[in-house]
Amino acid sequence: MTDTEIKKGLAGVVVDYTAVSKVNPDTNSLLYRGYPVQELAAKCSFEEVAYLLWNGELPTPDQLAEFTARERAGRALDPALKAIIDALPKNAHPMDICRTAASVLGARHELAENSSPEANMNKAIDLFSAMPAVVAYDQRRRHGQHIVEPRDDLGYSANFLWMTFGEEQVPEVVDAFNVSMILYAEHSFNASTFTARVVTSTLSDLHSAVTAAIGALKGPLHGGANEAVMHTFDEIGIRNDESLEDAAARAKAWMEDALAQKKKVMGFGHRVYKHGDSRVPTMKAALDKMIAHYGRPELLGLYNGLEQAMDEAKAIKPNLDYPAGPTYHLMGFDTPTFTPIFVASRITGWTAHIMEQSASNSLIRPLSAYNGVEQRSM
Ligand code: COA
Repeated sequence: MTDTEIKKGLAGVVVDYTAVSKVNPDTNSLLYRGYPVQELAAKCSFEEVAYLLWNGELPTPDQLAEFTARERAGRALDPALKAIIDALPKNAHPMDICRTAASVLGARHELAENSSPEANMNKAIDLFSAMPAVVAYDQRRRHGQHIVEPRDDLGYSANFLWMTFGEEQVPEVVDAFNVSMILYAEHSFNASTFTARVVTSTLSDLHSAVTAAIGALKGPLHGGANEAVMHTFDEIGIRNDESLEDAAARAKAWMEDALAQKKKVMGFGHRVYKHGDSRVPTMKAALDKMIAHYGRPELLGLYNGLEQAMDEAKAIKPNLDYPAGPTYHLMGFDTPTFTPIFVASRITGWTAHIMEQSASNSLIRPLSAYNGVEQRSM
């Protein structure tokens, strides 16, 4: 096999069909089941989008009422899972808590060894309902705070924020969070979704596939980038009383220096989109609203400075993690909680792909070209 036949990182390789989402890098568009993600973010709740990803159609009012009731009934943190989380160190990465939680919920599920389409749909909804309590409680316990019980009079996003902060948030904040959850929900054959499909292709169970996907998402070249963006902001230094212009100038200088040292700056670039990430304008609009709401123009300065300097030097555009990171920071999430929020959202896309893979399965098993020592004798 020659080098040219090897597709390092599977770049450009089309491995299967999917009807879940369509990414078109030429037109910077992303469709979930045919609907532009921007339209979904403007008009839908995250619950409606989850239903769409799993069922292929948006719910009717009756279907939404039934689905919502089901989701609200599954929000409380399982006491057995809480005890396991409490036994884990407070300095364990929150993604390790999420990964453990997915695995525990799988082992404790009444349909654990059943991978029928009905069982998988049940498991997907259960995970979707349960994960916010895990993420919220984990952030709270790190601050020595008690668990906040879910409220079934609140939608998914409002309740997620309620369980994290113990205070009801204003509609602008809930809307921005809802937009981020919709934008993070699905993105075709990205690394973690592909991981979930590989695990599913062995006829393993849904929770095993999601647990593996969480491991893949943790890395900074994938979901971990939203945390890394905040580390960049912290390294440059966030100065609450600084003007937008001064913050932008410092950020530009930081970026020029980082690029001179050939550093990879997280939150920029994308394997598929080479002219900009289709989700960024919608998320940036949500960030702008949060910057105005919390009165923090200096964050916009840092954002603009980095973006401009990267564009001038390498014409590399921001990806979704770039505006999402500071948005979550403004809302009060701890930086290590950012990627677990992504998990709570992406559970929808992963499980839609797991069900699609199960319905038309073929073991995923590529080949490799051997480049070790030739056969020899001892
Ligand atoms: N900062 C600096 N340079 C970057 C860069 C970044 N974030 N992203 C890409 N580049 C540069 C590379 O250094 C490379 O330059 P070279 O040709 O001079 O060596 C060129 O752009 C191509 O990058 P490459 O890493 O080969 O592209 P890819 O398609 O394999 O990678 C990513 C895509 C996402 C892995 C890459 O852009 C990256 O590492 N970004 C940062 C992590 C991140 O934000 N991930 C979240 C993705 S949603």
